[in-house]
Amino acid sequence: MNAIKINWDRALSFLDSEALSEIEWEVLEAKKKLVEGTGKGNNFLGWVNLPNEIDDEMLSNIKSDVERLAPQSQLFVVIGIGGSYLGARAVIEALQSEFAAFESNDAPYVIYAGHTLSEDYYVRLMRLLENKDYSVAVISKSGTTTEPAVAFRMIKDQMVKKYGEEGAAQRIIAITDARKGALHDIALQEGYRMYVIPDNVGGRFSVLTPVGLVPIAMAGFDVDALLRGAAEMQELCVQSDSLQDNPALRYAAIRNLLYRRGYSVEMLVNFEPNLKYISEWWKQLYGESEGKEGKGILPHSLSFTTDLHSMGQYVQEGQRLMFETVVSMESPAETVDVPYDEKNLDGINYLVGKSLTEINHNAELGTIIAHNHGGVPIVKIEVPCVNEEVLGQLIYFFEFACGVSGYMLDVNPFDQPGVEAYKKNMFALLGKPGYEHVKIEE
Ligand code: PA5
Repeated sequence: MNAIKINWDRALSFLDSEALSEIEWEVLEAKKKLVEGTGKGNNFLGWVNLPNEIDDEMLSNIKSDVERLAPQSQLFVVIGIGGSYLGARAVIEALQSEFAAFESNDAPYVIYAGHTLSEDYYVRLMRLLENKDYSVAVISKSGTTTEPAVAFRMIKDQMVKKYGEEGAAQRIIAITDARKGALHDIALQEGYRMYVIPDNVGGRFSVLTPVGLVPIAMAGFDVDALLRGAAEMQELCVQSDSLQDNPALRYAAIRNLLYRRGYSVEMLVNFEPNLKYISEWWKQLYGESEGKEGKGILPHSLSFTTDLHSMGQYVQEGQRLMFETVVSMESPAETVDVPYDEKNLDGINYLVGKSLTEINHNAELGTIIAHNHGGVPIVKIEVPCVNEEVLGQLIYFFEFACGVSGYMLDVNPFDQPGVEAYKKNMFALLGKPGYEHVKIEE
């Protein structure tokens, strides 16, 4: 059952009437390449059929790891960077209470490491972990990425002191390549539970592999429903050639049309703070997939109404180079009303009897109309609510649209050659063996 709808009325009004028919064949060509595996980077298309090809044994191992580790873990540390952590964080933060750290839950509270090299962060993290019981997932496809390797070395050292070699090994899950990489070798030698990231799935497309599923299940969320949602969306995205019904084709079409008319920045906007990491995941997905060869829409994100009080001025009246894609949620999980106040000193009694959702929806509509009149095309992604099934749909939808959109830009959406440049300089500056020849010209 598809729950996601793309409303493009407030973007089409910025285009000429022929625009859609002009681009339709290109969208369908790009989709064909993706589904038939005939485009650039076609050795990284394992994610396309992933939701319908989930390995049941892997899923049941994840569930038994959760049963074993959750009762002995107040915290679960997810060590990874980029595609090896953003998807899990996006789903977990979308589903959990913002105040989960202060609530008592059966599931461990998930915290993150390996995504920064900040010394202050690790001093504080190691101090926290000293007084907690915890388990760890260390996630790296290459198994050689510096940030997670450094974090894992520090955390493992503390775990061995705390739980002993064997006790630590039982609390560590490694998620990495099937055959190679330092993490693969460490995991084998130390006897960690190991999950494989398929060769044909790149980091930013890996949330529906153990990379995302292990942390999401450990946080207490329903991975079966997540995968069910993704499989429903897979069915629709792969089967339908209709720009009317297939939300991924619709989204790829409208964002490319806008890009070609000079709208080179896309702001992913939410009105729910728990969707902030969906935006972070989306930025990596689109930024790394499309930002190459001097091309690509710059992905940016805003959380409203918070950012209306910081970036709202720019969006309304600054340079006209952006369009907004608003993730619009129909209904919240729970409701609360504004109470009546006899004195009405704050003057907001006119809101009494309205739920915060009604107020938020009116803020959303008011914002969309204002920005639209200010020259900002608006695309709306309408979702009914936030739960595992809807998130599964949303993830697959964004991934499929990203593949189609990347092919429309005529880039390889599945590589990231530019990410290596900083690593080469950093390794040379730090004296990593093998990088002596690198000359850094400042
Ligand atoms: O999408 C990607 O490929 C990257 O963002 C990687 O996920 C990120 O660099 C981490 O790499 P690895 O999983 O090899 O540690």
